[in-house]
Amino acid sequence: AANKKLLVLPGDGIGPEVMHEVRRVIDWMDRRRALSFEIEEGLVGGGAIDAVGSPCPDETVEKAKAADAVLFGSVGGPKWDSLPFEQRPELGILRLRKDLGLFANLRPALVMDPLVEASSLKPDIVRGVDIMVVRETVGGIYFGEPRGVETLPDGKRRGFDTDVYHEDEIARVARVAFDLARKRRGKVTSVEKANVMQSGRLWRAVVGEVQKAEYPDVALENMYADNCAMQLCSRPKQFDVILGNNLFGDVLSDLAAALTGSLGMLPSATLGAVDPATGKRHALYEPIHGSAPDIAGKGIANPCAQMLSFAMLLRWSFGLEEDAALLETAIEKVLAGGLRTADIMQPGMARVGTSVMGEAVLRELDKLAA
Ligand code: NAD
Ligand code: IPM
Ligand code: MN
Repeated sequence: AANKKLLVLPGDGIGPEVMHEVRRVIDWMDRRRALSFEIEEGLVGGGAIDAVGSPCPDETVEKAKAADAVLFGSVGGPKWDSLPFEQRPELGILRLRKDLGLFANLRPALVMDPLVEASSLKPDIVRGVDIMVVRETVGGIYFGEPRGVETLPDGKRRGFDTDVYHEDEIARVARVAFDLARKRRGKVTSVEKANVMQSGRLWRAVVGEVQKAEYPDVALENMYADNCAMQLCSRPKQFDVILGNNLFGDVLSDLAAALTGSLGMLPSATLGAVDPATGKRHALYEPIHGSAPDIAGKGIANPCAQMLSFAMLLRWSFGLEEDAALLETAIEKVLAGGLRTADIMQPGMARVGTSVMGEAVLRELDKLAA
Protein backbone atom coordinates (compact mmCIF):
# COMPACT_ATOMS: atom_id res chain seq x y z
CA ALA A 1 0.00 0.00 0.00
CA ALA A 2 1.07 3.57 -0.62
CA ASN A 3 1.84 4.40 2.97
CA LYS A 4 4.65 6.83 2.42
CA LYS A 5 3.41 10.34 1.75
CA LEU A 6 5.88 12.52 -0.09
CA LEU A 7 5.53 16.15 -1.00
CA VAL A 8 7.71 16.98 -4.00
CA LEU A 9 8.59 20.66 -4.51
CA PRO A 10 10.70 21.04 -7.68
CA GLY A 11 10.92 24.85 -7.48
CA ASP A 12 12.85 26.98 -9.97
CA GLY A 13 15.76 26.86 -12.41
CA ILE A 14 17.41 23.44 -12.53
CA GLY A 15 15.13 22.23 -9.70
CA PRO A 16 12.50 20.67 -12.04
CA GLU A 17 15.23 19.27 -14.33
CA VAL A 18 17.02 17.33 -11.62
CA MET A 19 13.75 16.42 -9.87
CA HIS A 20 12.57 14.76 -13.08
CA GLU A 21 15.45 12.27 -12.79
CA VAL A 22 14.51 11.56 -9.18
CA ARG A 23 10.92 10.86 -10.19
CA ARG A 24 12.27 8.14 -12.48
CA VAL A 25 14.25 6.68 -9.56
CA ILE A 26 11.10 6.74 -7.42
CA ASP A 27 9.22 4.86 -10.15
CA TRP A 28 12.04 2.35 -10.27
CA MET A 29 11.93 1.86 -6.50
CA ASP A 30 8.20 1.36 -6.76
CA ARG A 31 8.52 -1.25 -9.52
CA ARG A 32 11.58 -3.13 -8.38
CA ARG A 33 11.69 -2.68 -4.61
CA ALA A 34 7.96 -2.46 -3.92
CA LEU A 35 8.35 0.87 -2.16
CA SER A 36 5.15 2.61 -2.91
CA PHE A 37 4.95 6.31 -2.36
CA GLU A 38 1.96 8.57 -2.49
CA ILE A 39 3.30 11.65 -4.21
CA GLU A 40 1.92 15.15 -4.28
CA GLU A 41 3.57 18.10 -5.97
CA GLY A 42 3.43 21.65 -4.69
CA LEU A 43 4.40 25.20 -5.51
CA VAL A 44 7.34 27.01 -3.98
CA GLY A 45 9.72 29.86 -4.84
CA GLY A 46 9.53 32.01 -7.94
CA GLY A 47 7.08 29.67 -9.66
CA ALA A 48 4.72 30.05 -6.70
CA ILE A 49 5.09 33.83 -6.81
CA ASP A 50 4.09 33.79 -10.48
CA ALA A 51 1.18 31.39 -9.94
CA VAL A 52 -0.34 32.54 -6.66
CA GLY A 53 1.64 35.57 -5.50
CA SER A 54 3.54 34.02 -2.62
CA PRO A 55 6.92 32.19 -2.47
CA CYS A 56 5.48 29.78 0.07
CA PRO A 57 1.69 29.51 -0.14
CA ASP A 58 -0.15 28.31 2.99
CA GLU A 59 -1.33 25.33 0.99
CA THR A 60 2.27 24.22 0.47
CA VAL A 61 3.02 24.53 4.20
CA GLU A 62 -0.11 22.51 5.04
CA LYS A 63 0.82 19.82 2.52
CA ALA A 64 4.35 19.73 3.93
CA LYS A 65 3.04 19.26 7.46
CA ALA A 66 0.78 16.44 6.34
CA ALA A 67 3.52 14.60 4.43
CA ASP A 68 5.91 12.03 5.88
CA ALA A 69 8.75 13.76 4.07
CA VAL A 70 9.34 16.68 1.71
CA LEU A 71 11.68 16.49 -1.27
CA PHE A 72 12.74 19.99 -2.22
CA GLY A 73 14.50 21.17 -5.39
CA SER A 74 15.75 24.73 -5.41
CA VAL A 75 14.35 28.24 -5.56
CA GLY A 76 15.33 31.64 -6.89
CA GLY A 77 16.52 33.25 -10.10
CA PRO A 78 17.20 36.54 -11.84
CA LYS A 79 13.54 36.95 -12.78
CA TRP A 80 12.65 37.60 -9.13
CA ASP A 81 15.85 39.28 -7.95
CA SER A 82 14.43 42.79 -7.83
CA LEU A 83 11.36 41.91 -5.78
CA PRO A 84 11.12 43.44 -2.30
CA PHE A 85 12.90 41.45 0.41
CA GLU A 86 9.67 40.02 1.90
CA GLN A 87 8.61 38.60 -1.46
CA ARG A 88 11.77 36.84 -2.55
CA PRO A 89 11.62 33.18 -3.71
CA GLU A 90 14.23 32.24 -1.07
CA LEU A 91 11.61 32.90 1.60
CA GLY A 92 9.97 29.70 0.34
CA ILE A 93 12.62 27.45 1.84
CA LEU A 94 13.13 29.67 4.88
CA ARG A 95 9.44 29.54 5.79
CA LEU A 96 9.27 25.77 5.33
CA ARG A 97 12.25 25.30 7.66
CA LYS A 98 10.75 27.65 10.23
CA ASP A 99 7.13 26.48 10.12
CA LEU A 100 8.05 22.80 10.27
CA GLY A 101 10.65 23.39 12.98
CA LEU A 102 13.44 21.92 10.84
CA PHE A 103 16.34 23.03 13.01
CA ALA A 104 19.07 20.56 12.07
CA ASN A 105 20.45 20.47 8.54
CA LEU A 106 22.73 17.52 7.85
CA ARG A 107 25.11 18.12 4.97
CA PRO A 108 27.42 15.20 4.27
CA ALA A 109 30.52 16.01 2.24
CA LEU A 110 31.73 12.68 1.00
CA VAL A 111 34.48 12.46 -1.59
CA MET A 112 33.60 9.52 -3.81
CA ASP A 113 36.66 7.67 -5.10
CA PRO A 114 35.85 8.18 -8.80
CA LEU A 115 35.70 11.94 -8.22
CA VAL A 116 38.97 12.38 -6.36
CA GLU A 117 40.54 13.88 -9.47
CA ALA A 118 37.55 16.15 -10.11
CA SER A 119 38.25 18.16 -6.99
CA SER A 120 40.20 21.38 -7.36
CA LEU A 121 42.38 20.22 -4.47
CA LYS A 122 45.21 17.69 -4.70
CA PRO A 123 44.04 14.05 -4.70
CA ASP A 124 46.04 13.20 -1.56
CA ILE A 125 44.27 15.93 0.36
CA VAL A 126 40.70 14.94 -0.55
CA ARG A 127 40.85 11.15 -1.00
CA GLY A 128 38.73 9.56 1.72
CA VAL A 129 37.23 12.81 3.04
CA ASP A 130 33.98 12.05 4.88
CA ILE A 131 32.61 15.05 6.75
CA MET A 132 29.14 15.69 8.13
CA VAL A 133 28.29 19.37 8.50
CA VAL A 134 25.47 19.97 10.97
CA ARG A 135 24.00 23.38 10.38
CA GLU A 136 21.41 25.08 12.63
CA THR A 137 18.58 26.25 10.35
CA VAL A 138 15.82 28.08 12.20
CA GLY A 139 17.73 30.63 14.27
CA GLY A 140 20.62 33.05 14.17
CA ILE A 141 21.08 35.88 11.75
CA TYR A 142 18.61 34.39 9.23
CA PHE A 143 15.68 35.18 11.50
CA GLY A 144 16.94 37.48 14.30
CA GLU A 145 15.19 40.78 14.97
CA PRO A 146 15.66 43.65 14.47
CA ARG A 147 16.61 43.54 10.83
CA GLY A 148 16.08 45.98 8.01
CA VAL A 149 17.37 48.90 6.00
CA GLU A 150 16.57 52.36 7.32
CA THR A 151 17.18 55.84 6.01
CA LEU A 152 18.86 58.15 8.50
CA PRO A 153 18.09 61.89 8.93
CA ASP A 154 21.09 62.73 6.73
CA GLY A 155 19.60 60.64 3.92
CA LYS A 156 22.18 57.85 4.20
CA ARG A 157 20.98 54.25 4.51
CA ARG A 158 21.88 51.78 7.23
CA GLY A 159 21.32 48.01 6.96
CA PHE A 160 21.25 45.69 9.96
CA ASP A 161 20.66 42.08 10.98
CA THR A 162 20.71 40.40 14.37
CA ASP A 163 22.54 37.19 15.20
CA VAL A 164 20.75 35.75 18.20
CA TYR A 165 20.62 32.28 19.77
CA HIS A 166 18.77 30.98 22.81
CA GLU A 167 20.76 28.37 24.73
CA ASP A 168 18.09 25.73 24.09
CA GLU A 169 18.42 26.26 20.33
CA ILE A 170 22.16 25.69 20.59
CA ALA A 171 21.82 22.64 22.85
CA ARG A 172 19.31 20.80 20.66
CA VAL A 173 21.36 21.09 17.46
CA ALA A 174 24.52 20.22 19.41
CA ARG A 175 22.84 16.97 20.50
CA VAL A 176 22.17 16.10 16.84
CA ALA A 177 25.87 16.61 16.09
CA PHE A 178 27.04 14.56 19.08
CA ASP A 179 24.59 11.73 18.32
CA LEU A 180 25.93 11.58 14.75
CA ALA A 181 29.53 11.66 15.91
CA ARG A 182 28.86 8.66 18.16
CA LYS A 183 27.87 6.63 15.11
CA ARG A 184 30.80 7.95 13.07
CA ARG A 185 34.35 8.64 14.25
CA GLY A 186 33.51 10.21 17.60
CA LYS A 187 34.56 13.82 17.03
CA VAL A 188 32.69 17.13 16.80
CA THR A 189 34.34 20.36 15.69
CA SER A 190 32.12 23.24 16.77
CA VAL A 191 32.69 26.46 14.85
CA GLU A 192 31.87 30.03 15.85
CA LYS A 193 33.57 33.36 16.36
CA ALA A 194 33.60 33.32 20.15
CA ASN A 195 36.45 35.82 19.94
CA VAL A 196 34.27 38.58 18.49
CA MET A 197 30.60 37.60 18.86
CA GLN A 198 28.53 37.38 22.04
CA SER A 199 26.24 34.75 20.52
CA GLY A 200 29.41 32.89 19.51
CA ARG A 201 30.63 32.94 23.12
CA LEU A 202 27.33 31.48 24.28
CA TRP A 203 27.49 28.91 21.47
CA ARG A 204 30.89 27.68 22.64
CA ALA A 205 29.84 27.59 26.28
CA VAL A 206 26.59 25.67 25.69
CA VAL A 207 28.12 23.12 23.30
CA GLY A 208 30.80 22.48 25.93
CA GLU A 209 28.21 22.01 28.67
CA VAL A 210 26.18 19.55 26.59
CA GLN A 211 29.29 17.53 25.78
CA LYS A 212 30.42 17.40 29.40
CA ALA A 213 27.03 16.42 30.78
CA GLU A 214 25.74 14.06 28.07
CA TYR A 215 28.52 13.08 25.66
CA PRO A 216 31.77 12.65 27.60
CA ASP A 217 32.65 9.84 25.16
CA VAL A 218 32.65 12.20 22.15
CA ALA A 219 35.67 14.43 21.50
CA LEU A 220 34.84 18.13 21.18
CA GLU A 221 37.06 20.65 19.49
CA ASN A 222 36.17 24.34 19.26
CA MET A 223 37.43 26.20 16.21
CA TYR A 224 36.96 29.73 14.92
CA ALA A 225 34.95 29.68 11.71
CA ASP A 226 37.59 31.50 9.66
CA ASN A 227 40.24 29.01 10.71
CA CYS A 228 37.83 26.17 9.88
CA ALA A 229 37.48 27.49 6.31
CA MET A 230 41.26 27.41 5.96
CA GLN A 231 41.60 23.96 7.59
CA LEU A 232 38.88 22.54 5.29
CA CYS A 233 41.05 23.43 2.30
CA SER A 234 44.37 22.39 3.77
CA ARG A 235 43.66 19.36 6.01
CA PRO A 236 40.04 18.27 5.51
CA LYS A 237 40.63 14.75 6.82
CA GLN A 238 40.92 16.00 10.40
CA PHE A 239 37.13 16.60 10.42
CA ASP A 240 34.37 14.19 11.35
CA VAL A 241 31.29 16.24 12.32
CA ILE A 242 31.37 20.02 11.95
CA LEU A 243 28.72 21.90 13.94
CA GLY A 244 27.88 25.49 13.04
CA ASN A 245 25.21 28.14 13.24
CA ASN A 246 22.89 29.02 10.37
CA LEU A 247 25.31 31.34 8.57
CA PHE A 248 28.65 29.63 9.21
CA GLY A 249 27.05 26.26 8.44
CA ASP A 250 25.79 27.60 5.11
CA VAL A 251 29.15 28.99 4.04
CA LEU A 252 31.28 26.10 5.28
CA SER A 253 29.04 23.47 3.65
CA ASP A 254 29.46 25.11 0.23
CA LEU A 255 33.19 25.04 0.87
CA ALA A 256 33.05 21.38 1.89
CA ALA A 257 31.09 20.70 -1.30
CA ALA A 258 33.93 22.04 -3.38
CA LEU A 259 36.21 19.36 -1.89
CA THR A 260 33.94 16.70 -3.36
CA GLY A 261 34.22 18.08 -6.87
CA SER A 262 30.99 20.07 -7.27
CA LEU A 263 28.00 21.58 -5.51
CA GLY A 264 26.05 19.32 -7.87
CA MET A 265 27.04 16.30 -5.77
CA LEU A 266 25.93 17.31 -2.28
CA PRO A 267 22.58 16.37 -0.70
CA SER A 268 21.15 17.38 2.65
CA ALA A 269 18.50 16.44 5.17
CA THR A 270 16.80 19.04 7.34
CA LEU A 271 15.21 17.48 10.39
CA GLY A 272 12.82 18.60 13.10
CA ALA A 273 12.42 17.25 16.60
CA VAL A 274 11.04 13.75 17.13
CA ASP A 275 7.48 13.93 18.46
CA PRO A 276 7.52 11.77 21.62
CA ALA A 277 3.87 10.82 21.10
CA THR A 278 4.18 9.50 17.54
CA GLY A 279 7.92 8.91 17.19
CA LYS A 280 7.71 10.89 13.95
CA ARG A 281 9.56 14.01 12.87
CA HIS A 282 9.13 16.53 10.08
CA ALA A 283 11.89 16.29 7.51
CA LEU A 284 12.82 17.98 4.26
CA TYR A 285 15.50 16.84 1.82
CA GLU A 286 17.25 19.24 -0.50
CA PRO A 287 20.49 19.49 -2.43
CA ILE A 288 22.73 22.21 -1.04
CA HIS A 289 23.00 23.87 -4.44
CA GLY A 290 20.59 26.51 -5.71
CA SER A 291 18.63 26.96 -8.91
CA ALA A 292 21.82 27.52 -10.97
CA PRO A 293 20.34 30.14 -13.33
CA ASP A 294 23.53 30.12 -15.41
CA ILE A 295 22.83 26.57 -16.63
CA ALA A 296 19.05 26.29 -16.15
CA GLY A 297 17.10 25.06 -19.18
CA LYS A 298 20.19 23.60 -20.86
CA GLY A 299 19.73 20.02 -19.68
CA ILE A 300 23.27 19.86 -18.31
CA ALA A 301 22.73 20.10 -14.55
CA ASN A 302 24.13 17.33 -12.39
CA PRO A 303 21.18 15.38 -10.92
CA CYS A 304 23.34 13.54 -8.34
CA ALA A 305 22.76 15.94 -5.42
CA GLN A 306 19.01 15.69 -5.86
CA MET A 307 19.16 11.90 -6.18
CA LEU A 308 21.41 11.60 -3.14
CA SER A 309 18.92 13.79 -1.25
CA PHE A 310 16.29 11.17 -2.07
CA ALA A 311 18.66 8.50 -0.74
CA MET A 312 18.90 10.47 2.51
CA LEU A 313 15.09 10.60 2.58
CA LEU A 314 14.89 6.81 2.30
CA ARG A 315 17.38 6.44 5.13
CA TRP A 316 16.30 9.16 7.55
CA SER A 317 12.53 9.25 7.14
CA PHE A 318 11.79 5.60 6.42
CA GLY A 319 14.78 3.65 7.76
CA LEU A 320 15.26 2.10 4.30
CA GLU A 321 19.01 1.80 4.68
CA GLU A 322 19.37 -0.92 2.05
CA ASP A 323 17.52 1.03 -0.62
CA ALA A 324 19.38 4.22 0.23
CA ALA A 325 22.71 2.42 -0.09
CA LEU A 326 21.58 0.84 -3.37
CA LEU A 327 20.96 4.24 -4.91
CA GLU A 328 24.23 5.66 -3.57
CA THR A 329 26.14 2.68 -4.94
CA ALA A 330 24.45 3.02 -8.34
CA ILE A 331 25.52 6.66 -8.56
CA GLU A 332 29.08 5.87 -7.56
CA LYS A 333 29.24 3.08 -10.16
CA VAL A 334 28.02 5.39 -12.92
CA LEU A 335 30.79 7.82 -12.00
CA ALA A 336 33.34 5.02 -11.83
CA GLY A 337 32.21 4.05 -15.34
CA GLY A 338 33.36 7.43 -16.62
CA LEU A 339 30.16 9.41 -17.20
CA ARG A 340 30.40 13.05 -16.16
CA THR A 341 28.13 16.07 -16.20
CA ALA A 342 29.94 19.30 -17.08
CA ASP A 343 30.50 20.40 -13.48
CA ILE A 344 32.58 17.29 -12.67
CA MET A 345 34.11 16.80 -16.12
CA GLN A 346 37.62 15.34 -16.22
CA PRO A 347 39.99 14.56 -19.07
CA GLY A 348 39.20 11.26 -20.78
CA MET A 349 35.67 10.99 -19.40
CA ALA A 350 32.40 11.06 -21.30
CA ARG A 351 30.47 14.30 -20.96
CA VAL A 352 26.71 13.78 -20.66
CA GLY A 353 23.62 15.80 -19.80
CA THR A 354 21.11 15.50 -16.98
CA SER A 355 18.86 12.86 -18.49
CA VAL A 356 21.63 10.57 -19.77
CA MET A 357 23.11 10.66 -16.28
CA GLY A 358 19.71 9.80 -14.79
CA GLU A 359 19.21 7.01 -17.32
CA ALA A 360 22.63 5.55 -16.45
CA VAL A 361 21.74 5.46 -12.76
CA LEU A 362 18.55 3.53 -13.60
CA ARG A 363 20.53 1.03 -15.65
CA GLU A 364 23.01 0.60 -12.81
CA LEU A 365 20.13 0.06 -10.38
CA ASP A 366 18.82 -2.65 -12.72
CA LYS A 367 22.20 -4.38 -12.64
CA LEU A 368 22.55 -4.14 -8.87
CA ALA A 369 19.05 -5.49 -8.30
CA ALA A 370 19.38 -8.31 -10.83
P1 NAD B 1 23.86 27.93 -7.12
O1 NAD B 1 24.12 26.84 -6.15
O2 NAD B 1 22.54 27.96 -7.79
O3 NAD B 1 24.99 27.91 -8.24
C1 NAD B 1 26.38 28.11 -7.96
C2 NAD B 1 27.23 27.51 -9.10
O4 NAD B 1 27.19 26.08 -9.03
C3 NAD B 1 26.70 27.88 -10.49
O5 NAD B 1 27.78 28.07 -11.37
C4 NAD B 1 25.90 26.65 -10.91
O6 NAD B 1 25.82 26.45 -12.30
C5 NAD B 1 26.68 25.53 -10.22
N1 NAD B 1 25.76 24.43 -9.88
C6 NAD B 1 24.88 24.40 -8.85
N2 NAD B 1 24.19 23.26 -8.86
C7 NAD B 1 24.64 22.54 -9.92
C8 NAD B 1 24.29 21.26 -10.45
N3 NAD B 1 23.34 20.47 -9.90
N4 NAD B 1 24.94 20.84 -11.55
C9 NAD B 1 25.89 21.60 -12.11
N5 NAD B 1 26.26 22.83 -11.66
C10 NAD B 1 25.64 23.28 -10.57
O7 NAD B 1 24.11 29.29 -6.32
P2 NAD B 1 23.90 30.82 -6.78
O8 NAD B 1 24.24 30.96 -8.22
O9 NAD B 1 24.61 31.61 -5.79
O10 NAD B 1 22.36 31.07 -6.59
C11 NAD B 1 21.39 31.01 -7.63
C12 NAD B 1 20.01 31.17 -7.06
O11 NAD B 1 19.70 30.03 -6.23
C13 NAD B 1 19.83 32.37 -6.14
O12 NAD B 1 18.54 32.88 -6.35
C14 NAD B 1 19.97 31.79 -4.74
O13 NAD B 1 19.33 32.54 -3.76
C15 NAD B 1 19.32 30.47 -4.93
N6 NAD B 1 19.72 29.40 -3.99
C16 NAD B 1 18.73 28.55 -3.63
C17 NAD B 1 19.03 27.48 -2.81
C18 NAD B 1 17.92 26.56 -2.44
O14 NAD B 1 16.86 26.61 -3.05
N7 NAD B 1 18.09 25.68 -1.49
C19 NAD B 1 20.34 27.25 -2.41
C20 NAD B 1 21.34 28.14 -2.83
C21 NAD B 1 21.01 29.21 -3.64
C1 IPM C 1 20.95 26.93 1.17
C2 IPM C 1 20.66 28.24 0.51
C3 IPM C 1 19.60 28.99 1.32
C4 IPM C 1 20.22 29.35 2.65
C5 IPM C 1 19.00 30.24 0.66
C6 IPM C 1 18.46 29.98 -0.71
C7 IPM C 1 17.92 30.82 1.52
O1 IPM C 1 21.81 28.97 0.33
O2 IPM C 1 20.02 26.15 1.40
O3 IPM C 1 22.12 26.65 1.46
O4 IPM C 1 20.98 30.33 2.75
O5 IPM C 1 19.93 28.65 3.61
MN1 MN D 1 23.64 27.85 0.80
